[in-house]
Amino acid sequence: MCNLHHLFQLLCLMIFVAALKATTTTTTLMPSCQSHCGNVSIPYPFGIGAGCHIQGFDILCNTTFHPPRPFVGDTGAELIDISLIPGEARVYEHIDWVCYNETSLVDYEFLSVNLTTRPVYKISSTRNKFTGVGCYTLAYVGGDIGNPNYLSGCVTSCDSLASAMNETCAGSGCCQTTLPKGLTSVVTGFAIGLNNTVVWDFNPCSYAFVVEQDWYNFTSADLMFGHLNSTNQKGVPTVLDWAIGNQTCEEARRNSTSYACVDKNSECLNSTNGPGYRCNCSRGYEGNPYLSNGCRDIDECEGPLDQYPCYGICRNTPGNYTCSCPRGKQDGDPYTKDGCRSTGSSFPLALKILIATMCSIFFVTVMSFGIYLGLQKRKLIQIKQSFFEKNGGSILQQQINSFQGATFKLFTLEELEKATNKFDDKLVIGRGGHGIVYKGTLEDKRTVAIKKSKLMDEGQTQEFAREMLILSQINHRNVIKILGCCLEVEVPMLVYEFIPNGTLFQYLHDKIHKISIPLDARLRIAEESASALAYLHSAASPPIIHGDVKSSNILLDEEYSTKVSDFGASKLAPKDEAQFATVVQGTCGYLDPEYLLTCQLTEKSDVYSFGVVILELLTRMKPFEFDATGQEKILASIFFVAMKEDKIENILDNELKVGVDMVLIKEFSKVAMQCLNFTRDERPTMKEVAQSLETLRKSKHHVAAPSNQQIVHLDQDDRVENTMSQEFVYTHDATGSGNMEILSLLDVGNGR
Ligand SMILES: *[C@@H]1O[C@H](CO)[C@@H](O)[C@H](O)[C@H]1NC(C)=O
Ligand SMILES: *[C@@H]1O[C@H](CO)[C@@H](O)[C@H](O)[C@H]1NC(C)=O
Ligand SMILES: *[C@@H]1O[C@H](CO)[C@@H](O)[C@H](O)[C@H]1NC(C)=O
Ligand SMILES: *[C@@H]1O[C@H](CO)[C@@H](O)[C@H](O)[C@H]1NC(C)=O
Ligand SMILES: *[C@@H]1O[C@H](CO)[C@@H](O)[C@H](O)[C@H]1NC(C)=O
Ligand SMILES: *[C@@H]1O[C@H](CO)[C@@H](O)[C@H](O)[C@H]1NC(C)=O
Ligand SMILES: *[C@@H]1O[C@H](CO)[C@@H](O)[C@H](O)[C@H]1NC(C)=O
Ligand SMILES: *[C@@H]1O[C@H](CO)[C@@H](O)[C@H](O)[C@H]1NC(C)=O
Ligand SMILES: *[C@@H]1O[C@H](CO)[C@@H](O)[C@H](O)[C@H]1NC(C)=O
Ligand SMILES: *[C@@H]1O[C@H](CO)[C@@H](O)[C@H](O)[C@H]1NC(C)=O
Ligand SMILES: *[C@@H]1O[C@H](CO)[C@@H](O)[C@H](O)[C@H]1NC(C)=O
Ligand SMILES: *[C@@H]1O[C@H](CO)[C@@H](O)[C@H](O)[C@H]1NC(C)=O
Repeated sequence: MCNLHHLFQLLCLMIFVAALKATTTTTTLMPSCQSHCGNVSIPYPFGIGAGCHIQGFDILCNTTFHPPRPFVGDTGAELIDISLIPGEARVYEHIDWVCYNETSLVDYEFLSVNLTTRPVYKISSTRNKFTGVGCYTLAYVGGDIGNPNYLSGCVTSCDSLASAMNETCAGSGCCQTTLPKGLTSVVTGFAIGLNNTVVWDFNPCSYAFVVEQDWYNFTSADLMFGHLNSTNQKGVPTVLDWAIGNQTCEEARRNSTSYACVDKNSECLNSTNGPGYRCNCSRGYEGNPYLSNGCRDIDECEGPLDQYPCYGICRNTPGNYTCSCPRGKQDGDPYTKDGCRSTGSSFPLALKILIATMCSIFFVTVMSFGIYLGLQKRKLIQIKQSFFEKNGGSILQQQINSFQGATFKLFTLEELEKATNKFDDKLVIGRGGHGIVYKGTLEDKRTVAIKKSKLMDEGQTQEFAREMLILSQINHRNVIKILGCCLEVEVPMLVYEFIPNGTLFQYLHDKIHKISIPLDARLRIAEESASALAYLHSAASPPIIHGDVKSSNILLDEEYSTKVSDFGASKLAPKDEAQFATVVQGTCGYLDPEYLLTCQLTEKSDVYSFGVVILELLTRMKPFEFDATGQEKILASIFFVAMKEDKIENILDNELKVGVDMVLIKEFSKVAMQCLNFTRDERPTMKEVAQSLETLRKSKHHVAAPSNQQIVHLDQDDRVENTMSQEFVYTHDATGSGNMEILSLLDVGNGR
């Protein structure tokens, strides 16, 4: 083990990271979202499965079909396609029919489209027509539109197949009528009891349906039995308008957490069919305005000339383009064909040639520089976008959007550059094997810590988005809060809350400003850190392994309360053997010996490292250092020797040698001893460690303060412990009469 220490000592750098905590209550694994169902593309805000869509835009993908078929939620309406701009979707609508024999009605089939449970959809009034087909038919259409409900219809007549007018729906064999705005369901009907005797032999059935305008091409063959519905087995396409929510743009924009037009190059439009709004990419951009960075600049210079005319030199700009006439022909209009004309002048020919030559040299230089800059800029934007995609930005954005109340934010590179004064070296607050940490100030004046990691395994970038979301939901008062991340760079940067009072390492080992730390405080720090780690191990499945537990990753806030930080780093570090040699996860002096043998990081690795932190608290010695003679001193080894000889007091911090409860110290050391067991399986779990420390602290409390007043303060963070079935707040009243009040805060399961 000591040799290994030598091997890795170069990598042993102190890392300081300001880091984490979050706001939401439970931690759930978000499934990654499916982008297609069969060959139908499902763009956000639509999505399949929880967490992948905005409310009301759920799509059910029924995979029992081959290929799978998408449906509008559980409404049974099968989707044909979705378009974001304009906000439309098409579904199949059943062709309703009735059939007669010579004298009476014999059979019928009705199946209405009913989207009243998904009010984000409205049947388009401008893109559909209600259509009736038959030779003696009064077809009705109605539906939900509010109060009173809607009812209308149209009439057809014809004497024979030959007299029906092909290709038109003007009443002869086919009739059409427009629909009102705001319809969420359609029902059709036929007037029965009409005398069909005259027509039944060539037109035994009548049909009614709502169909996309101009889609249906009536022919007299459709009047014959079964022809119309057997040529359109699934039904006919109906266009739906959709919109987000039921507010106008202005109302929605006021609530920034739920406002759906998240791209900065997007704009909002009121729905034209009922309440709600839609988003569009701004002019000059295209893509998905519902995702941040979803709208991309259109390269007009590559686009069609009739749409983006330019007969001179075309240059793409963000959101627009410029067009100019070439040198020597600046007179005129480059936007029209042959619009550029030669510049007339009265200079002598030689001078003209000279000027022309000089101008063109200048022009070429400037242009190429301009083009070079333009290309560089475009390349930069593309690179940012590709990193964003590669790092799972779109998926993360979707999940953040659909996760109500999430405070996690995707920062742009500009925002972070601004916050850190372009990553000014003066603002570095920590530096180490994993990366560099800067102190920054956001636009809203919040102080944050920004971590730039050094490298990330290619394969793990895909997992990154999902893990970020889990980390963002970590909510424990002793775990630092992660505020967001920036994905526009090769290795994502993390943004954490800023914790002002430095690290436990500094607190313990600062030789210049050595502060006295009473045993209580040491116990409290140990217990808080242990409960934070226990929380991390239990909050998610698979567990979040910190991977680099050490005193410099335990931060202290204004009140010297502990905040465990940098656990996100374990997600970023490479795990496979090949890279193990170059980057050892963890820090010398804290490394789980079994991790060095197996390269496998487990919860028990954190337990080992935590054992070393306890030793630091007890001895105020560094876990790994060289003494004056150049001899290496490994705290864990020193401790083992002392324990073996039962001379623990020899290595204790001077402050703990006098006037303290030696029994308590022994117990505290015993916890460390258990954590430092070389065999993983014999180490306690972090939860057991936290419990032991709690018991220790309580016993200490009783000795120090014999009062029986005790307030068990319970805050939300504690509730996550899923094994606890019941929690109480005990309060004693001020008079000390012992009158105990029990407030049951939580009653998980058990029916108690
Ligand atoms: C999906 O596949 C069907 C047949 O498999 C085809 O008719 C249809 O055009 C395809 N749709 C798209 C959007 O590619
Ligand atoms: C998928 O379609 C089949 C056949 O119509 C149906 O039995 C099944 O319930 C559908 N599955 C879901 C999840 O709706
Ligand atoms: C027409 O249908 C009705 C009801 O099904 C039946 O009673 C009647 O006999 C049928 N008429 C003829 C001519 O088939
Ligand atoms: C549509 O469904 C809703 C609720 O499921 C129901 O109240 C309404 O009457 C239905 N509309 C029609 C036209 O069937
Ligand atoms: C209408 O079209 C059908 C074929 O689709 C044809 O048989 C019929 O003769 C046409 N009728 C008229 C009036 O042109
Ligand atoms: C239907 O019309 C035919 C011919 O016009 C007529 O003979 C018959 O009586 C009518 N039937 C009814 C029920 O009105
Ligand atoms: C309608 O069908 C007829 C014949 O089937 C065809 O000549 C005509 O072009 C079609 N019209 C449209 C608009 O598709
Ligand atoms: C089409 O309609 C006829 C009646 O007009 C019915 O008998 C037949 O089953 C229907 N076919 C399909 C595929 O729905
Ligand atoms: C708007 O939508 C919200 C949530 O979907 C709903 O609670 C509210 O009643 C709706 N308001 C109106 C006026 O429809
Ligand atoms: C803003 O939206 C969130 C999430 O949809 C909601 O919880 C909150 O009540 C809304 N606030 C206002 C002022 O409408
Ligand atoms: C949306 O509608 C509201 C109320 O009708 C109106 O005041 C507002 O100007 C509209 N906004 C847009 C972007 O059209
Ligand atoms: C693009 O630039 C032209 C003039 O150069 C201007 O008229 C036009 O409005 C601009 N378009 C956009 C989307 O800004």
